[in-house]
This record gives sequence, C-alpha cells and structure tokens, in this order.
Amino acid sequence: MKYSKFADDDFKVSKICLGTMNFADRCDYKTSEEIVRLAWELGINFIDTAAMYSNGEAERYLGKAMKALPREKIFLVTKVVKGIDRDSILSGIDESLERLQTDYVDLYLIHWPVAGMDLVEMMESLNQVVHSGKARNIGVCNFPAYLLAAGNRIAQERGLKKLNCNQVAYNLIERGVEVEILPQAILEKIAIMAYRPLAIGLLTGKFSQGMKMDPATRGATDARVITWLSDYGKSVDRFVHFAEKKGVKPAQLAAAWVCHSPAITAPIIGVSSTRQLLSSVEAINVELSDEDYNSVTEIFPTEVWEESLQLFPGLKFNFPRLRRNLFLHKA
Ligand SMILES: NC(=O)c1ccc[n+]([C@@H]2O[C@H](COP(=O)([O-])OP(=O)(O)OC[C@H]3O[C@@H](n4cnc5c(N)ncnc54)[C@H](OP(=O)(O)O)[C@@H]3O)[C@@H](O)[C@H]2O)c1
Repeated sequence: MKYSKFADDDFKVSKICLGTMNFADRCDYKTSEEIVRLAWELGINFIDTAAMYSNGEAERYLGKAMKALPREKIFLVTKVVKGIDRDSILSGIDESLERLQTDYVDLYLIHWPVAGMDLVEMMESLNQVVHSGKARNIGVCNFPAYLLAAGNRIAQERGLKKLNCNQVAYNLIERGVEVEILPQAILEKIAIMAYRPLAIGLLTGKFSQGMKMDPATRGATDARVITWLSDYGKSVDRFVHFAEKKGVKPAQLAAAWVCHSPAITAPIIGVSSTRQLLSSVEAINVELSDEDYNSVTEIFPTEVWEESLQLFPGLKFNFPRLRRNLFLHKA
C-alpha cells in the first residue's frame, strides 16, 4: 500500500479508501466484516461511510467490524445527511458515533449542499463538532468550488475550523470536477476523495453494448449505467482492450487513471465482495506513464468542452484547458 498526508492533517492515509455503501445492502454482515478485515490486511487505513447508507445500518456494520481493529490507526469518515442546519449537524454526529461505536471520527462531511442553506450556520456547527472532540477534520461532498471557498472565507473571518476535504464523483466519464474543483484542491490543500471511480461497475468491462446485463449487478438497474453504456459502449470496449494489452484488469486501470491526478488523495473503492477488493486494490501498483494516461483519457470523448478557441481550426491555444490545469501541478 502507499500512503499520503491527508490535506493539512499529519495522518498518513492509504492511497485507496474503502467505501461501505454496499454494507447492509448488497453485503450481509459476514461479507462486510470480511471486507473490512481484508482491507486492513491489505494496508487500507482509510474508510468511508455515511449515515445515509442503508439508513444507518452500514455505519452499524462498520462499527461492529472495526471493533477488531486498532481504532487510532484508522482514518474514519462519515457524513451527515439529515440537513445542514445546526440541529441536524449536532444530532447527526452523535447518532453516527453511537452506530459506529466510537468517540470520534477523523473526518465529518456534509453529504450534499442544499439550495438556500445557511453557510455561516453550517460552518459554526461543524466547528462545534470539532471543538467537542467528536470530529478531527471537517469537509463536504459534492460542493462546487465557489461554495467551499465561501465556507472557508467564513471560517477565516470568524476563527473557525476550515473545511479540508471535498468528496466528489470522478471517473473517465464524469470529469466535470477538472474545471474548478481539482485545481482549487491543489491550490488550497484540500483533500479530494474520488467516489464512483468505476462508474458503478461500467469501467470493469462487465457490461457491453448489445449484451444482456447480469441482473445481479448494480449497473443492471441503474439508469446512469444504462445511459453511459449506450453513449460510451464503444469507448468501454476500447478501454477494456487497452487494459488487456497492458496486462491489467479494467477496474485496476480505471482506478489508476483517477489516482494519476495529483489532486486526488484517494479513490473510494466500493466493492460487494472480498474478491472484488483483492482485484481492485491492485490499482495501486499500476504504473501509468503520462503517455498511457493520455491514451486512456482520449478513449472517452468526455473532456469538458467550453465554447472557445479550440473549436476553431487553426487556432493554437486552448484557454479552457490551460485555465483548468493552472493549479494542477504540485509545487
Ligand atoms: N459522497 C457521495 O455523495 C458518494 C456517492 C456515492 C458513493 N460514495 C462513496 O464511494 C464509494 C464508491 O462508490 P461506488 O460504489 O459508486 O463506486 P464504483 O467504483 O463506481 O462502483 C463500485 C461497484 O463496482 C463493482 N466493482 C467494484 N470492484 C470490482 C471489481 N474488481 N470487479 C468487478 N466489479 C467491481 C461492484 O458492482 P456490483 O456491486 O454490481 O458487483 C461495486 O458495487 C461508496 O462505497 C461510498 O463510500 C460517496
């Protein structure tokens, strides 16, 4: 396993984070416990969960399974889903801690922004959670860059704990975060936890256009996977072929592609079996040269286009691409 500092926290987290969204849903307790144990044996000390997953049952499963592991060596993340107001944040953390059977989490996240939210109230409440010792770090999921920056401006002005993480969807198909969120993360030392690295299983190569989807998979009933398969099926086939030529599994290549961005702290690997975990974790050992990275990227026509110069033949500068890469190189 490889490790890196989590934003401005000195804790060294594994460069693969374990996702637990399938716990108490696709995974019964026995399988969930085996996944947690195997993750630990593989060197994964970074675990993501949420109050929302199976209405709190995923947190319960994880809390029980983690009892066998040294709590202080694990970077445990959970999220509040009830709301962004003071009561929801303050009661949400207590409920999560009880289900997780622990006194604190290493990172407490707001699961989604909502229209009309009170950012000052959110920052003050999260600060209170940190002051009470119930969370060591605070952050958000699915926040646009401007909103995270506004939250941290409030923190700066009022002497509150700053947000140091944004958890966002990122994979070869969903690349919108490259425009603002990833460059912001480098510039402001924000940790990025990348969820959905395999596009809900599509990038494992187990679905292909014209083939019946295995009804036991998540993808078979997920409208996004069905749409992506219809839009990008040919690209997926080329991607699988590229992985075969490189001698790696498509799931490993897809996660390695996510890790290639210097903005990414870790992809969150969600699995429904220990077998999947054993395979996906090998992404950490996939060496992706810049040339490989560019070749894989170009397989999918998913670059985020803006109406600009690149649309005019003969003009050499691509200002949108320049703008979004401005802070993507670590000093
Ligand atoms: N903050 C947020 O809003 C948010 C949202 C979504 C997820 N998350 C977090 O991110 C984690 C990952 O998200 P995700 O589950 O959507 O990610 P994903 O990587 O896109 O999809 C995971 C699915 O891919 C399949 N898979 C995984 N490894 C495989 C392998 N080696 N071979 C074949 N199939 C494999 C499994 O599908 P089958 O189960 O069908 O076998 C698994 O459920 C979640 O567990 C959760 O912790 C956060």
